[in-house]
Amino acid sequence: MTVTIVGSQLGDEGKGGVVDLYGDAADVVARYQGGDNAGHTVVHDGETYKLSLVPSGAVRGKVGVLGNGCVINPRTLFDEISTLQEKGLNPDVRVAERAHVIMPFHRVLDGIEEDVKSESDQEVGTTGRGIGPTYEDKAGRRGVRIGDLLDPDVLRERLEYVVPQKRALVEEVYDIAVEELDDPDAFDVDALFEEFREFGQRLADEDMTVNASAFLTDAMADGETVMFEGAQGTIIDIDHGNYPYVTSSNPTAGGAAVGTGLDPGTIADGEIIGIVKAYLSRVGSGPLPTELGGVVGDTPGYDEQGDGENEELATYIREEGGEYGTVTGRPRRVGWLDMPMLRHSARVNGFTGLAVNHVDVLAGLDEVKVGHSYELDGEEIFTMPATTEEWQRCEATFRTFDGWPEVDWEAVADEGYEAIPENARTYLEYVAEELDAPIYAVGVGPGREETVVVENPYE
Ligand code: IMP
Repeated sequence: MTVTIVGSQLGDEGKGGVVDLYGDAADVVARYQGGDNAGHTVVHDGETYKLSLVPSGAVRGKVGVLGNGCVINPRTLFDEISTLQEKGLNPDVRVAERAHVIMPFHRVLDGIEEDVKSESDQEVGTTGRGIGPTYEDKAGRRGVRIGDLLDPDVLRERLEYVVPQKRALVEEVYDIAVEELDDPDAFDVDALFEEFREFGQRLADEDMTVNASAFLTDAMADGETVMFEGAQGTIIDIDHGNYPYVTSSNPTAGGAAVGTGLDPGTIADGEIIGIVKAYLSRVGSGPLPTELGGVVGDTPGYDEQGDGENEELATYIREEGGEYGTVTGRPRRVGWLDMPMLRHSARVNGFTGLAVNHVDVLAGLDEVKVGHSYELDGEEIFTMPATTEEWQRCEATFRTFDGWPEVDWEAVADEGYEAIPENARTYLEYVAEELDAPIYAVGVGPGREETVVVENPYE
């Protein structure tokens, strides 16, 4: 069977911990979208691993697959594999031949476009990893795929077509001299050919490339269990998220089929678990109706750090929850849980279960609020509107829950669901009821031992 793990909010919901927890029972852990813009933290045997591309299951000896829906920077891939090897691990990572390659010029263009957009306050706040430009070239049928790296003639042909276009874009459209860039080789066919041909050789020598669809279908036919590790989250999905403040892929559950080639029926027969952070965080720009305080540079229209009561609360939650970007180190914006957002997410993904994380972070507060509905142009609505402009105009209507105390969360995790403080259970049950999906797990600390497991989807 398959279990698909999906971020229900804006990314950073703690998916890595849940993949790690349930992934024990999986034989294969596959990613279906995104690239090294993700940040997964896995704590294993007292050692903390921060991964941005390699599926986190690889830390525990699972076969890790990067599906065709992913965009792959081979520099990051081999750096992460080497780091794991230096720590004594032997990760088994397979890469889809159909996956697209993030080339150095994609990263440069990501930065240039963000700079240009920032002149009119339109920047997305990307991770700068070249994700958007790579998916653009995929859709534009001018991308370089992993399979192309294996054949030097094809690689050279692809580069000779695309690189002059990128060079012209930089020089003619953005009016920047390539030779003055930090990395002019990013636009040099010969330099790129040499470096990426070697990556292709290494992928071939280490037998890392697969037809992901066939590989996963065969694994299922052999009775193996597959876990799909979604990166980012529903509200930054290119189709179902808060466009244009989105990533360029489909973190939603449908992406698991398209992004790996395992058929949708098989995925729907399995479980789809929505990962919910007990409050909200957001990296980058875009609306956030339940936002507490703000972050200068990211919160729209927020130019100066305030010091009101909500700002203090925002700072408290940010510090308690360690809400700083795994990839970029940037402070994350924080807010109360947003139910219209989650209802949209539950509908788009079809969650069969929920894992609610970071419940411990809110412990000790007198009260905990939830945006239950929105008011938009004088009307009460219960789901997120489809346009960013309308979402920007939404005002959250809050429900207030009594807070819960700080307790020994490890002991709670040992004892089980009933040991969770009653007010926290009331909060969790409200979320489950509103989303019509049962609670499978409750995260009460960063380690996987600090998780209250209610249901194991593989059992
Ligand atoms: P990109 O994916 O680098 O193109 O960034 C697009 C948007 O998605 C930006 O707002 C990023 O902050 C956000 N984003 C990308 N990856 C993640 C993630 O793993 N967690 C949270 N936000 C992300």
